[in-house]
Amino acid sequence: MPFNKNSIIKGIYLPPGDKSISHRILIMTGQTVGKSKITNLLEGEDVINTLKAMRQLGSKIKKKKEKYYVFGVPPGSLFQPKRSLDFGNSGTGIRLITGLISSNNIKANLFGDKSLSKRPMKRVTQHLSRIGAKIKLRKGTYPPIDIKGTGNGIPLSYNITIPSAQIKSAIMLSALNTNGTVKIKEFKTTRDHTENMLKSMGYNIKVKENKSHRFIEMRNNKELKNINYNVPGDPSSAAFLITAACLKVGSKLTVKNILINKTRIGFIKTLKIMGGNIRVINKRKIHNELIADLKIEQKKNLNPIILESKDVPLQVDEIPILSIAAAFATGLTIFKGLKELTVKESNRLLLINHNLRKIGVKSEIKKYDLYIYGNQKLKKGGAIINHQNDHRILMSFFIANLICKKNNIVLDKTCVNTSYPTFFRHISKLTY
Ligand code: S3P
Repeated sequence: MPFNKNSIIKGIYLPPGDKSISHRILIMTGQTVGKSKITNLLEGEDVINTLKAMRQLGSKIKKKKEKYYVFGVPPGSLFQPKRSLDFGNSGTGIRLITGLISSNNIKANLFGDKSLSKRPMKRVTQHLSRIGAKIKLRKGTYPPIDIKGTGNGIPLSYNITIPSAQIKSAIMLSALNTNGTVKIKEFKTTRDHTENMLKSMGYNIKVKENKSHRFIEMRNNKELKNINYNVPGDPSSAAFLITAACLKVGSKLTVKNILINKTRIGFIKTLKIMGGNIRVINKRKIHNELIADLKIEQKKNLNPIILESKDVPLQVDEIPILSIAAAFATGLTIFKGLKELTVKESNRLLLINHNLRKIGVKSEIKKYDLYIYGNQKLKKGGAIINHQNDHRILMSFFIANLICKKNNIVLDKTCVNTSYPTFFRHISKLTY
């Protein structure tokens, strides 16, 4: 079926495995002795690069009939890698594994593609150097990362001032081979899969939250237990089809087996406030993660919204697709405090604004706030989308074909393989 202004979204949708959880389960089962089984692992390029890196660091990972089996090494026993570790496009992969290596007595060189080579690493390594790891970065902040880990990490207290799950998780992974109690204070809006997985693997970890912050205490007196883990559907990938269904009146979509961890579904709350008719059903908890099915039955057009900066971390990866929803909602939407978007796979704040204008939507950036002047009229479209190989920009502006008179032109679609290799297949299956 063509995907354009006349399309609606219908059917039963099984989103791909969650990217954040896929990275983490490969890394953490790689720190257990014995056999772990992973099903529904996301087979996107980012995760496959993490898998290859873990192999170079000593994990035995086998695939048999869609299932992955991991035989890891205990904390502190990573192998000396023989070659540099290539993380492609993945900030999560490179940052988390730098954390893991920092408390192991090995040397490594970690690098990535053109986009990853421009992303800030000091935000992570400044913490890891404190335990005694020796780290060199290009121009003091960018990859490649040259690291010599320490076999005797010092247990410390950390105060993380940027809301970032990657910074926190890198520190937590370094703590796996640090004797004593490691304490972390961070914003509670960041995703907490590392904490949940460690709990499920029997690790001695305590987590408390107040109104704004989370306090984590890790005591290294227990090893991680092997686990059988079925990766739930990725809300960040599902966000494209969920938003598409909310955009087009008459759409009816059932989403099966999706992760609904509260740190990940800010966009669902936002869409509901905008008038999205989304019902959460069949809630269940597996390995400390909340999972559910969704029913979307869109009967009216969306309204604009003002999103406060404190809520941005809860939907940091979904602002590009929410911008498309805002473009088709009558009135002014403001997404406040989007500074973190400027250091993602691309400068997403600039690219969203640029491409919205190209397709015929009035928008502007004021400091780090994005103003989108939406209305229900079809946009002119017909633009060549400038996605700079950023998977989420590409997928968002592909969905924008639903609200344009003329379809836009997307050259080189291969970057969807980063996080969602089956994106176009799912679109054609669910479009009517
Ligand atoms: C991720 C954390 C977020 C998010 C990224 C995945 C993770 O990044 O944008 O796509 O898996 O920890 P930050 O930690 O930089 O906010």
